[in-house]
Amino acid sequence: MKKTAPAAQLDQKYLWHPFTQMRDWLKAKPIVLERGRGSHLWDLEGRKYIDANSSIWTNLHGHNHPKINRAIRAQLDKVSHVSALGFANAPAAILGERLISLSKPQSRFPKSEPRLAKVFYSDDGSTSTEVAIKLAYEFARRTGRTSKPRFLSLDGAYHGDTIGAVSAGHIDLFHKAYSGMLFKTDKVASPYCYRCPFNKAKPERADARYYRKCNMECVDKVSEQFEKRNKRGGNYAAFIVEPGVQGPAGMIAQPKGWLGKVASIAREHGSQIIADEVMTGLGGASSTYFASHAEKVQPDYLCIAKGLTGGYLPMAATLTTKEVFSAFLGEYEEFKTFFHGHSFTGNPLGAAASIASIDLLESAKTKKQRSQLAKYMKEFSAPLWKLDSVGDIRQSEGVLAVELVADWKTRKPFELSKQVGIRVCNNMANRGVLTRPIGNVIVVMPPYCTTQSQVKKIFTVLHDSIKEST
Ligand SMILES: Cc1ncc(COP(=O)(O)O)c(C=O)c1O
Repeated sequence: MKKTAPAAQLDQKYLWHPFTQMRDWLKAKPIVLERGRGSHLWDLEGRKYIDANSSIWTNLHGHNHPKINRAIRAQLDKVSHVSALGFANAPAAILGERLISLSKPQSRFPKSEPRLAKVFYSDDGSTSTEVAIKLAYEFARRTGRTSKPRFLSLDGAYHGDTIGAVSAGHIDLFHKAYSGMLFKTDKVASPYCYRCPFNKAKPERADARYYRKCNMECVDKVSEQFEKRNKRGGNYAAFIVEPGVQGPAGMIAQPKGWLGKVASIAREHGSQIIADEVMTGLGGASSTYFASHAEKVQPDYLCIAKGLTGGYLPMAATLTTKEVFSAFLGEYEEFKTFFHGHSFTGNPLGAAASIASIDLLESAKTKKQRSQLAKYMKEFSAPLWKLDSVGDIRQSEGVLAVELVADWKTRKPFELSKQVGIRVCNNMANRGVLTRPIGNVIVVMPPYCTTQSQVKKIFTVLHDSIKEST
């Protein structure tokens, strides 16, 4: 057999990494991850790390989980892929039922909220939101609500990298260069309490959501935006929102009540709601399976991806209502079909992994782990407030973000060019903890199985790395 060069060398010679300045990547030897178990990962040189961001917010139950492994192996012995174009497969069908059942509100919701009834599979977060956007577009046209459907999304929104998702995104750093190839969407203020122009409170050593002084003007802004659209004689086909936490915008955790209020405004104006729960769905950002449900909101489109397979395989789902589904029914020659899909839609391996992951999620053990993890994170992150470069720590259950600043008393940010977030994460990796920053925001979101002592280590390492890097 031909001898190959070490993986790090091959990587640097042949690969191009996502969201990565490759000039910097080529300067240092990359960490080549080889194996994992529970919350731990090992590199090729045998170094052990804690996976503190669940491999980019995907891994729910830890790596190499025996139950998910078994489910995938059992499916592998039958068949690894069959097409959903013209054929059904049992794991995808069973998963469909499980998702619809999980998406049923666990508490009493207003009767007017939609009922999710149908599942459309795709491959990742971007494709799940793309599906929702296309369905909402066509639904608005077919039901005669508007011939030119338009979308509203939040400042800082990120819904993925496909063109529809990018069009609904509002992060200039990622999206501006491509503006010429995008369709126009509107943006409205996001509830970013720590940096909100309406928040009159002086900075304190606490999560900005809990000491803010405002009248929730961010809600009024949403209302004004809908009215503005109405005055122009139109309405939005859909309001696209990341419920609970706006992840890629910097883990912006929403104040209690915000989502419920803005969802009501959207409904009053006859707009549909797309919940991008790519990060939050089945994840640890709320005590409910979906962050929308924590605010008694049921969207018309629910996008689930990252954690769907327990973080094992690329698979996503967009759940929607019978009403939307019906708008695409007709005689064959009417061509009302939803002409959209992918080669790997409904992949049986992904579906088998997802069913096993949902079984785990519903187990008493995981429920206990989830609530304990959030408590440990709260306890061990508290000492970070002593650091002058910590401006905000915002925690939503098992998702925690630390915003680093040049001066906490003024909220003055570090210049991005100083790469503070990147340096902190590099120092953390040297100390055996892996995560990835969003600008100057450090994300901690470990798998549910992470133990008390592992959580303690994550925050001790984060503390020391911030001290060393700022
Ligand atoms: C809220 C949200 N939507 C969409 C996406 C895109 O998902 P993917 O990277 O799987 O395409 C992400 C990815 O981080 C996300 O956090």
